[in-house]
Amino acid sequence: MTRTARLHVADRVVDLPLATGTAGDQVIDISTLRDRTGFTTLDPGYVNTASCSSAITFVDGDHGILRYRGIPIEALAERSDFLETAYLLIYGTLPSPAASHAFVTTITRHTLLHEDVKRFYDGFPKDAHPMAILSAVVGALSTFYQDSHNPTDPHQVELSTHRLLAKLPSIAAYSYKKSIGQPFIYPDNALDYCSNFLRMMFAVPTEPSDVNPVAARALNLALLLHADHEQNCSTSTVRLVGSSHANLFASVAAGIYALWGPRHGGASQQVMTMLDTIQADGANVGKYVDLAKDRSHPFRLSGFGHRVYRHYDPRATILKRTCDHVLAALGVHDPLLDVAKRLEEVALKDDFFLSRKLYPNVDFYSGVIYKAIGFPVNMFTVLFAIGRLPGWIAHWREMMQAPAVKIGRPRQLYTGRPAIDYVPMAQRLDGPAAAGPG
Ligand code: SDX
Repeated sequence: MTRTARLHVADRVVDLPLATGTAGDQVIDISTLRDRTGFTTLDPGYVNTASCSSAITFVDGDHGILRYRGIPIEALAERSDFLETAYLLIYGTLPSPAASHAFVTTITRHTLLHEDVKRFYDGFPKDAHPMAILSAVVGALSTFYQDSHNPTDPHQVELSTHRLLAKLPSIAAYSYKKSIGQPFIYPDNALDYCSNFLRMMFAVPTEPSDVNPVAARALNLALLLHADHEQNCSTSTVRLVGSSHANLFASVAAGIYALWGPRHGGASQQVMTMLDTIQADGANVGKYVDLAKDRSHPFRLSGFGHRVYRHYDPRATILKRTCDHVLAALGVHDPLLDVAKRLEEVALKDDFFLSRKLYPNVDFYSGVIYKAIGFPVNMFTVLFAIGRLPGWIAHWREMMQAPAVKIGRPRQLYTGRPAIDYVPMAQRLDGPAAAGPG
């Protein structure tokens, strides 16, 4: 028997079906609400709204739980790697040895960019933000791969999946080389995914180059931790754009722009700016904690707080532990790590943060690792995008494969004027009285 919620609204009484997810999460299915009552729901930011059913990732924000296809993030962090995790998210299971070899080989062999893509970079200003370049070039890839736009053709979707996973690091590395006026470094198929990316980022053609395995392993872990996070802002963007049957390149390009925002993936860059500011101000952590509590002041603790986690973000736990190990192994001492740890310590003793359940999120410690490896701060969100790409692709494919993919088209609560007549120019007045709606 279907459990229901009984809604009394206006002169109607409707029973709405309840549904329970495999982890016990519960929803009220309101898909018939408007037809049966004439009412829609209002939920700015979708705080209370599930946009879809999904089997990819489970987040329990109250208990700090994150699982990719049922596997806890701690186990994947310990035992998996980024490409294997990408396979898991996209195809639903861990790959067999043969499937793993085939997947890695395919990705390795798609890393080259069309030579004409390099000419896009000539047009960008030297100080262009790499997130702007990343999205622009990803969108432009659709013009080079017009053979794989159709979202309902499994072969074309597979081709686009491989091309994007393989080429995003190349696009990212080229944006960095452009910004420092160095020649682009071609991919080296003899290297693993992360070593290849680090080499494209930091090698120069005039010197022999070898990649520090500690840096490659740390990057691998960071990308894995960022690989998916259910219906976050950028993934929801990829789903919404894809719901119009836009191709995968266009949908991912939109997701990159959504991720760029400082309230989302852009926070990783903001955290370092914040830590630098605090360090430069005598590492006066207390002053900035007080500033973050001052509602009249715009300052917020970047890397703190989360829509879903009302507990410590499990990814931050792993990254915080990794900071110590990686900086020691790379022989790096970064005072900003001490500032970050002190900031966390002070904030998590303060009721303002505890009462609002504001804890460090994935962005709070990631930048310390990226900086130690040698990435410039404006590349941090690009690294988030490379990590999140498998999740975006997995959700886009899951949506396309769903039985009835409806185009995403939310309703609204109209708060504008009632109907008025058109006013001919001759009857319009100038000056404040004639100003438009405030
Ligand atoms: C990511 O969704 C995902 O899964 C995202 C992500 C992923 O993997 O995809 O996990 C990645 O984007 C992590 C979040 C990165 N962003 C930041 O670190 C930016 C700083 N954080 C905040 O902007 C904020 O916490 C959000 C945007 C992350 C969440 O905002 P919500 O859920 O809309 O919460 P809110 O703004 O309503 O805040 C609730 C209260 C408010 O205070 P009051 O109005 O109750 O007085 O907490 C306060 C906020 O002012 N608050 C903060 C704060 N975050 C929230 N106060 C100080 N510092 C902060 N960082």
